[in-house]
Amino acid sequence: MEKREYRTIARSKTGDEVELIFRPYIKGDFETAKILYQSWSNPQNLRYNEIPRGMEIDEDGNIKNGIQLVESIVDYGFPSEDGRYWMVIEAEEDGKRKVVGNCWFGNRSWDEDYAKNESWGFGYNIIRSDDKDLDNEEYTIEELCDVFANGVKCDKNWGKGLATAIINFILEQARQEGVKDVISGADILNYGSLKPMFKNGMRYYRLDREDKDPDMIIHLKDDNASAVGEQMETEWQEFQKEMKEIIVKNSEFYKERDKARFNKAVKRQKEWRDYKNSVKQKK
Ligand SMILES: CC(C)(COP(=O)(O)OP(=O)(O)OC[C@H]1O[C@@H](n2cnc3c(N)ncnc32)[C@H](O)[C@@H]1OP(=O)(O)O)[C@@H](O)C(=O)NCCC(=O)NCCS
Repeated sequence: MEKREYRTIARSKTGDEVELIFRPYIKGDFETAKILYQSWSNPQNLRYNEIPRGMEIDEDGNIKNGIQLVESIVDYGFPSEDGRYWMVIEAEEDGKRKVVGNCWFGNRSWDEDYAKNESWGFGYNIIRSDDKDLDNEEYTIEELCDVFANGVKCDKNWGKGLATAIINFILEQARQEGVKDVISGADILNYGSLKPMFKNGMRYYRLDREDKDPDMIIHLKDDNASAVGEQMETEWQEFQKEMKEIIVKNSEFYKERDKARFNKAVKRQKEWRDYKNSVKQKK
């Protein structure tokens, strides 16, 4: 990847287009870090994704809140030392750039199954319209209970083809870098995230060892491209059926896993509240 800024078009099924701009993170950009923390800690989002810390105290007693932690975990190297690219995704609205998501992609350096440069992984996130401004509002325990009991609600930022375009962009970078395989996964219930992978030619590979979530794979050097159109939809229906059977077979495991995830979310929401209270007390 020679350039630092890339543009690509996302298309909805109804033909609406939005241009996406991918750029690296900027050190000290707390405005973007705040948008991302608000997004990641939204119960509607963390249900299927990594749950961010709300606050951390280091050995010297220094406090970092969730926003500062987001800023400090992002890698600013391009690529990072272990060969990964971390990018903010923006779109232009009324001549102004607005953060619409973020992603990372590159070496799966943690995966002993693959040699370096042979296989890439990726992760991404799309900003929801119901993210709260944490200067004025808080996410609540009731919202956590609701999403774990009733599932994730559709958002008006969905269905615009953003996820499909983001994955397409990442796979294109991998092709250009001569990568052999790209592997990524999503929660076994998160069909909204698995479908864009499927549409980009990724297919079911294996269950993740720890979480029993599906990993999807694409072999970029394989000439046999995955099916598109009607055949793809048929394969997609079969895939969903297969996932549902896995869920039934492992129902106890998923119940316990989601209970642990809920407890972690409660704990991390409390960290943020504790941080806010400590600020109030200082005033
Ligand atoms: C991933 C996510 C952002 C979707 O992004 P998006 O920009 O709306 O995705 P796209 O518009 O590119 O495509 C979504 C596809 O999934 C389909 N889809 C969405 N929800 C679905 C569901 N519950 N069951 C089956 N298909 C579903 C859509 O119909 C669409 O397919 P189509 O174009 O063939 O109709 C959204 O599902 C989400 O936020 N999930 C929770 C957070 C998350 O998972 N983030 C990514 C982590 S890997």
